[in-house]
Amino acid sequence: MIRGVAMLDGRSFRKESLANAHLLGELAELEVDSVHLQRSVTADELRAAGHVLAEWHGEGSLREALHEAGVRNIDFGRIVAIDSSWRFRDWPEAPDQIPDQALDPDYAELLSRAEETFATVEEGRDIDVRSVRELLQVLVHKVSTNSVALGQVMAMKQYENFTYCHSVNVSLLSLLLGDRLGLDETTRTDLAEAALLHDVGKMRLPVEILRKPGPLDQKEWQLIQRHPRLGAQILVGLDGLAPMTTTIALEHHMNFDGEGYPDLGPDVEPHFLSQLVAVVDTYESLTGARSYRDPAEPEKACLILARMAGEKLNPALVKAFVSAVTFFPVSSIVRTNRQEIGVVVEAFPEHPLHPRLALVDSHSGQPTGVIVDTRERGENGEYERHVTGSLGRNQLRVNLAAVLQAYSTD
Ligand SMILES: [Fe+2]
Ligand SMILES: [Fe+2]
Repeated sequence: MIRGVAMLDGRSFRKESLANAHLLGELAELEVDSVHLQRSVTADELRAAGHVLAEWHGEGSLREALHEAGVRNIDFGRIVAIDSSWRFRDWPEAPDQIPDQALDPDYAELLSRAEETFATVEEGRDIDVRSVRELLQVLVHKVSTNSVALGQVMAMKQYENFTYCHSVNVSLLSLLLGDRLGLDETTRTDLAEAALLHDVGKMRLPVEILRKPGPLDQKEWQLIQRHPRLGAQILVGLDGLAPMTTTIALEHHMNFDGEGYPDLGPDVEPHFLSQLVAVVDTYESLTGARSYRDPAEPEKACLILARMAGEKLNPALVKAFVSAVTFFPVSSIVRTNRQEIGVVVEAFPEHPLHPRLALVDSHSGQPTGVIVDTRERGENGEYERHVTGSLGRNQLRVNLAAVLQAYSTD
């Protein structure tokens, strides 16, 4: 479950429905974030696992209880961090891996391959195109279709947002968006390649600047702004890469309104795919940790993207991206700009940031009986309410089943 959305093999497998939300709510209450079924699972095992879950009160090891009940092909996990607030608890000693669970093996492999590839460039050598191709195979065919890895990309970040991790994540999220937009397979593969290498120019900048624990001064900022050109220079004559890769490396910091860098002269509009990478790149940078600031939570990052839409970023792409990652799914608990707390009871794909809410008391978590539609606009045409963020399930105890039930019978 990625941020409350049920995913099956990396895809959201059913439309938001109340029945689905009940199940998700119950599993979340048991602190189960992911269910792993092996292909050889039997009906008896499913039944036995259901019994174990129904009787389990959170004491002891769920895994052992399953084992005792003869369940071999089903596992429940806390692997996918749907609630990103856990990251803040131990801050600044952020864990380098989720307790008892390392990175998804395919994602881990991808990261280590990417680290090697980027290290080659750092040493001043050319990119090894063959290893990039192999890396893309893993990325496109294994990891982008793997919900655990995607969950880790969405919710779990390294303490330092190293260029290779950032690049792998931008590539995966670009694929997610490309898929949503219905891009064909060849374009998606080219997009994944370009997104993976968009920041390769940074490998030619002094590492002290990239990892500087604080804001950059003007001179350092000017150096940073050279990375798109440096990247394009590294990529341009390389045999075996898609032509789009160089273009995107050069253009990914050019804004939708023509500002940004580098300045390629008037009337040069960045390519559509450069605009796509720009949206994902901005999101990934906001949600990644820096040594001098905490990462933004996904919802916060989406709101920032929404504000940048039309100026820095292409609004249609921002909208598609935000809806691809569905930030306020049914059953999530959110706060509005009027300081109300509500449970999302209905989400609208065409208004991803404006769900319908059942308000609850901010202290007791009890439903107040008031339903609000945050899509509503006042006389001045402005939205009457904005969702300003979401609350972790551990921040306020809400009986989600009761709230959703009350709404569905209304
Ligand atoms: Fe960049
Ligand atoms: Fe970037």
